[in-house]
Amino acid sequence: MQTPFSLDSRLELCAGFVRAGAKLADIGTDHAYLPVALMLKKHISSAIAADINPEPLSRGKQTIDKYDLAHKIQVRLSDGLLAIAPDEVDDIVIAGMGADTIIGIISAAPWLKHRDKHLILQPMTKGERLIKYLYDNGFEIINQKACIADGKPYTVMLASYTGNEEPCDELFTYTGRLHPELYKEDREFLYLQSRILSKRSAADEQNARLSQMIIERIKPYDKD
Ligand SMILES: C[S@@+](CC[C@H](N)C(=O)[O-])C[C@H]1O[C@@H](n2cnc3c(N)ncnc32)[C@H](O)[C@@H]1O
Repeated sequence: MQTPFSLDSRLELCAGFVRAGAKLADIGTDHAYLPVALMLKKHISSAIAADINPEPLSRGKQTIDKYDLAHKIQVRLSDGLLAIAPDEVDDIVIAGMGADTIIGIISAAPWLKHRDKHLILQPMTKGERLIKYLYDNGFEIINQKACIADGKPYTVMLASYTGNEEPCDELFTYTGRLHPELYKEDREFLYLQSRILSKRSAADEQNARLSQMIIERIKPYDKD
């Protein structure tokens, strides 16, 4: 069967990190586009489409019913992962929320501190706080990519627990595991980080320094 709708490049990037055959939880699912697209491709074995609010959840249910997937994708009213048991999921997507909300969701589910669980995280704002939180709490970013959706750069990270609680340096919280030497989208995201920092820099010289360090990292590769 053809996928009847395509994901935008932001959700597509999230989808690309989900392991084949995984039991998926999509936290803050809203329309449930991500689990439905992955199930239609038969990429995942099961999914829970969860949301804290009933309205988005009922939108998600409509999408699931439209494609006749209610036997494969459960909808669940849940604040983060609170209504989800560890053995129900392998890969957990938390996308389209601010970093502080994502941090709150991870902190409230200590069972995520297990090497087998994969977190696929797409912070809308303050990604640097999320990266700091991950490294302070024994998680590591395994892979990270960026994309442009509706003309705006976004980043998605794949993280997992290692147990090494080694804080990362401040520059890394802004650059993460992106590859400005390889990808234009990664450079675009890093330019955005640099601009955000330089707007803050009037109040803080360290921000100005970080902003400049990011530019220096991108410049040699920016031939466009
Ligand atoms: C902007 S939408 C993102 C939808 C989709 N994940 C995406 O990235 O396109 C954010 C959704 O997260 C939900 N949400 C916010 N906080 C949440 C929480 N603590 N637990 C579960 N869902 C939450 C909201 O109700 C909303 O439906």
